Amino acid sequence: MSNRVRKAVFPVAGLGTRLLPATKTMPKEMLTIVDRPLIQYAVDEAREAGIEQMIFVTGRGKAALVDYFDMAFELETTMRDAGKSLDALASARTDYGEIVAVRQQEPLGLGHAVWCARHIVGDEPFAVLLPDDLMAGTPGALKQMVDAWEQVGGNMLCTEEVPAEKTKSYGVIAPGRVDGDLTEVLGLVEKPDPQDAPSRLGVIGRYILQPQVMQVLDAGTRGAGGEIQLTDALAKVIGTQPFNALKVNAVRHDCGDKLGFVLANLALALERPDLGPQVREYLASL
Ligand code: G1P
Repeated sequence: MSNRVRKAVFPVAGLGTRLLPATKTMPKEMLTIVDRPLIQYAVDEAREAGIEQMIFVTGRGKAALVDYFDMAFELETTMRDAGKSLDALASARTDYGEIVAVRQQEPLGLGHAVWCARHIVGDEPFAVLLPDDLMAGTPGALKQMVDAWEQVGGNMLCTEEVPAEKTKSYGVIAPGRVDGDLTEVLGLVEKPDPQDAPSRLGVIGRYILQPQVMQVLDAGTRGAGGEIQLTDALAKVIGTQPFNALKVNAVRHDCGDKLGFVLANLALALERPDLGPQVREYLASL
């Protein structure tokens, strides 16, 4: 069994209903933040963290996502023959490691999506990245988690404080001992009402998990919203393995939501040396 995190699961079969009509025929993970699709931010983050195999759990209508990570032979040849620079493609032509796609044939929830990757993950620790959560940080959020995980092992998830009235949108942890940015996880509840939430520490879409969670998911137990929840399966392994939450040094943008999507575009454009000054000037003029 590997004690390195070499594999990452990207659940990308969702319909993106919060972003309709944009997502009517377009996978939400292909919507662009400035000049690259959302999925590329997550894959770049995984690559930086040392991940070698990217496992996409996809579904119908999501082929563009997998194609994106192939070399665009026709495009490159045509551009080269026309004497055009390939610079604009440079950020999308790096080595992405091995890309594997498995199907989630029914939308039964995040836990089910992760379980669909069980045969590819095998018997080793793995990361899960939800591309909707765009994490802007240096080093990237997953790299920060891998560095912390190498010290403590077990299961690790990423948390941030969320407003009390928003606990209903997140997995929420029951915190134990705090050691710097690490908090021991004593309990986990999926999308609790504010009065039932064990804290205001919400789970953000980055996890490093032990393969045993797949055996818990085998049972297919339904939870909040009638879905097979990853949070519920993780709650069941608490106490059997070390379990920690890490507060990472990064800004999270919830790009699965219209406001978060627009703000992510603005925030990342403002940081770009080639676009930031003009965007800033335009915003000031508004
Ligand atoms: C999922 C998880 C939830 C987590 C959230 C983070 O919920 O089920 O525990 O807090 O991602 O983005 P979703 O946003 O898919 O409803």
